[in-house]
Amino acid sequence: MDTYELAGLRPRLPSPLEPAADERFARRGLTLLLKRDDLIHPDLPGNKWRKLVLNLRAAGGRPVLTFGGAYSNHLRATAAAGRLLGFPTIGIVRGDELAGRPLNPSLARCAADGMRLEFVDRSTYRAKHEPAVLAALLGRAPEGTYVVPEGGSNALAVEGCAELGRELSGRADVAAVACGTGGTLAGLAAGFGGRTLGVPVLRGGFLGAEARALQEAAFGGPRGDWWLDERFHGGGYGRTTPALDAFAQDFEARHGLAIERLYVAKMLFALVSLAEEGAFPPGSRIAAVITGSGESQAVSSR
Ligand SMILES: Cc1ncc(COP(=O)(O)O)c(C=O)c1O
Repeated sequence: MDTYELAGLRPRLPSPLEPAADERFARRGLTLLLKRDDLIHPDLPGNKWRKLVLNLRAAGGRPVLTFGGAYSNHLRATAAAGRLLGFPTIGIVRGDELAGRPLNPSLARCAADGMRLEFVDRSTYRAKHEPAVLAALLGRAPEGTYVVPEGGSNALAVEGCAELGRELSGRADVAAVACGTGGTLAGLAAGFGGRTLGVPVLRGGFLGAEARALQEAAFGGPRGDWWLDERFHGGGYGRTTPALDAFAQDFEARHGLAIERLYVAKMLFALVSLAEEGAFPPGSRIAAVITGSGESQAVSSR
């Protein structure tokens, strides 16, 4: 698989950067911009494209094995890429209790795209990057299989996300992104000339160390000017609060855009709160990165 074949998927790049009229920003002298990474590709939206592109190039058409939970967007995107580009995919799914049950819509989509699903118990899943466990998984996969980690976050993924930062450089002063593994933040901050805000959607306060480790792996050391605000996880991954739900519904009504709830809603809530707290100097252009699509909420992006 070469660059030409990936370009054959016709990604919409650079993704659009759209001004959004919102008086909560305007009254502080701020401009809100929506970086529409959700529009890059219908099957590989947002950070999925950015993280997979260099990995798929490195895999060069070999089978790709990766990991995810029962609702993983990353598994869905990898399976779709396999179908579109014609390489085999293997999905290692957390939870052996799922084997033999009807597939949920997300896993059914993966299977329809040709992904071979293998269900493993939770302790095996946790140990998936230990050499013996990985060797056993690879032993059942075709020779030469290329491994992409859970969530797609590795050094090549981080490098792919640096392009997002370069697209924003000179066009925004602050960029904001929701964080799960921190891979998108690590790359975005490295490529961007302004300041980058990361909004973790998980509890635990581990994300700074993860993002630093990913920058070390990708670039050999820290890059860019970034910070985290840990207040907006809404109770943890997949959790929400009445205030967050009301906020997301109101944002959708104001801007006519379906908001992905697990990540994007929390980042937008953080930005509006920080604007109201006076956290950004007047005159700042603030780019909110829309990393996922809110169009398919029924097949949740957990
Ligand atoms: C829509 C969306 N936004 C943000 C993220 C966070 O990305 P990362 O794991 O690189 O922090 C994810 C995770 O895959 C996601 O699905």
